[in-house]
Amino acid sequence: MTAVDAKVRLAHAERFGSEAKTYSAPARVNLIGEHTDYTGGLVMPMAIGFCTVAGISRRNDGKAVFYSASYKEAREFDIAFLGKDPRGGWSDYPAGVLWSLKRVGIDPRGFNMSIDGDVPLGAGLSSSASLEVAVAVAILSQMDLKLPLEELAPLCRAAENEYVGAKCGIMDQFIVAGGVEHRAMMLDCRSLKYELLPLPSNVRVVIANSMVKHSVATGDYGNRRDEVEAGQDVLRRERPGIELLRDATIEDLEACRGKMSAESFRRCRHIITENRRVLEAREALLAGDMKRFGELMAAAHASMRDDFAASCAEVDALVEIAGRQPGCFGARITGGGFGGCTVNVVKADDAEAFVEQVKLEYERAVGIKADCFVSSPSDGALALAAKGGVA
Ligand code: GLA
Repeated sequence: MTAVDAKVRLAHAERFGSEAKTYSAPARVNLIGEHTDYTGGLVMPMAIGFCTVAGISRRNDGKAVFYSASYKEAREFDIAFLGKDPRGGWSDYPAGVLWSLKRVGIDPRGFNMSIDGDVPLGAGLSSSASLEVAVAVAILSQMDLKLPLEELAPLCRAAENEYVGAKCGIMDQFIVAGGVEHRAMMLDCRSLKYELLPLPSNVRVVIANSMVKHSVATGDYGNRRDEVEAGQDVLRRERPGIELLRDATIEDLEACRGKMSAESFRRCRHIITENRRVLEAREALLAGDMKRFGELMAAAHASMRDDFAASCAEVDALVEIAGRQPGCFGARITGGGFGGCTVNVVKADDAEAFVEQVKLEYERAVGIKADCFVSSPSDGALALAAKGGVA
């Protein structure tokens, strides 16, 4: 039992006077394939060992009561009358999941749920998807229901897109629900087909938090999406056969350059080149060529910074410092951008020294203490539930 799991059980017993069954969902980091998911592109994330835990017990009066053990706040909903009525704040995520489940005819009789987690907030590690998926798996499990990954992830995404009002893609919910220990996942965000890929045992994934806060719910992410979608609309209109940006080549984009804004052109160029980098990164992983994998990460970072304009000075400094360290194959910004974390692939033997040196130099350069975590791919919520417990 993890510390978070124990906290949730205790909070639940104190708050509701009953024993909770607990379900856990991890966080995620994206190795490569950024801002490609909402135009049907390719991503390569992995689940990581932070977690959100949802503890659930029955009630039979048609009410859903969510208790956040970290905010020490409860929110109550009448399940039969639950409409799309976001109140702002943490409870929109679990209420949105309930709303999304109800929309496909999944109608629980009533429950108390306590929630807590240790996913750093605003760090770009998918605390929201982790929360949504933990809540969904808890409600479904209580009803003895199981949904396949290809249905569960879109339901959770719909909660975030339509109830919470954040325009995220499918990557986070998919990997948080479907991750597998020791494996990264290459996901085709159009077909939802995926491939699990082993990481060499002699490398570590180091996540470094710049401590600059980021949120998918704020304007920057949505602005980028609007710029991308405007470019995609032009391509769809001008080039037969293009449905999503995923279908476009650089030549298609060049041919339409005069018909879209300079911003849309650069945002789309990032996505088209990034899809190609993901495919090459898969090849490199399968060949065990971490040097090539690292070069692709560096190119992906430059593209996020220059074409997508979604990095910031602190994160650029963190990537630059990491890239100079012994044993570092590659470093890049990860997640939605505008702050948050970098992901670094480092030789296992050098990982400890890497963390020390990066922290030291980052603080010296920008005056902020970075948090660093050495991670390996962990199980997603479905694998954890199938194993009958939490990580
Ligand atoms: C956020 C979103 C994802 C994805 C990434 C960028 O994490 O939730 O859907 O778009 O940004 O790759």
